[in-house]
Amino acid sequence: MRLKGRTAIVTGAASGIGRASALLFAKQGAFVALVDRDPSGLRETIAAIGEMKAEASAHVGDVGDVEFAGTVVTETVARRGQLDVLMTAAGFSCGGTVLTTDPADWDAVFRANVGGTWLWSRAAVPQMQRQGKGSIITLASQLAIAGGKGNSAYIAAKGAIISLTRTMAVDFATDGIRVNAIAPGAIDTPMLRRSFARHADPDPVREASRNRHAMRRFGEAEEVAETALHLASDASSFTTGTVMVVDGGWLAS
Ligand SMILES: NC(=O)c1ccc[n+]([C@@H]2O[C@H](COP(=O)([O-])OP(=O)(O)OC[C@H]3O[C@@H](n4cnc5c(N)ncnc54)[C@H](O)[C@@H]3O)[C@@H](O)[C@H]2O)c1
Repeated sequence: MRLKGRTAIVTGAASGIGRASALLFAKQGAFVALVDRDPSGLRETIAAIGEMKAEASAHVGDVGDVEFAGTVVTETVARRGQLDVLMTAAGFSCGGTVLTTDPADWDAVFRANVGGTWLWSRAAVPQMQRQGKGSIITLASQLAIAGGKGNSAYIAAKGAIISLTRTMAVDFATDGIRVNAIAPGAIDTPMLRRSFARHADPDPVREASRNRHAMRRFGEAEEVAETALHLASDASSFTTGTVMVVDGGWLAS
């Protein structure tokens, strides 16, 4: 087991990539603190972890809330005495160009994606510094590197996450803390399905997106989770400040 005895916090753990990663971390021996604003999805994740006889805790709230981040980190460290891994997978997109994006939607996308990366890292780093070890895994997107159409707030937020990941990696490298981003291609999750559903005629948009990948398919959340496991574990002990692309050849083609 690659994470035996480790403690992880995973945000966005009620669905998609966060859930798949939390399940894989638990399967590999970690205690996982599950964070999301969706209580019913969290219940499903914690039930699945219980079935594999692993341990987890569930925390319902908004990742943009500074007090929530501090409370969950404090409670997790009090219970486990350590915090080895933080994965910030909570996020969402609203769609729209800079002309059509409502300023309130722009702020909400930045609060969840960038705020949810910054505030949770801010809460976790002091404990990781005390331990002299830790791994932070953030969620960017292939669109932050390639650009994309009609998704300006989300793509800008993911670009900010890549910059934040790199700067945190440099700031905390000598503390033994590694910070890396994952940039997935289009992964078949509820978020991706919702983004297609925003279009008046979703089918051609879905097909164009699928065919934009060299592999001519969408990714699965479990395929991203495997990369998260690599970054969470000691197998990636010399890897920091990187963006791990998991995109079925989107950027290459
Ligand atoms: N699915 C893709 O194609 C894709 C591609 C690139 C990057 N990503 C990124 O991967 C991450 C996970 O996405 P997913 O596809 O699994 O989406 P998802 O919608 O399946 O899961 C995201 C989870 O985050 C939670 N969440 C969103 N905002 C929150 C907030 N403010 N507070 C607390 N919880 C919140 C949601 O409730 C949900 O459970 C996101 O950061 C997303 O931007 C996804």
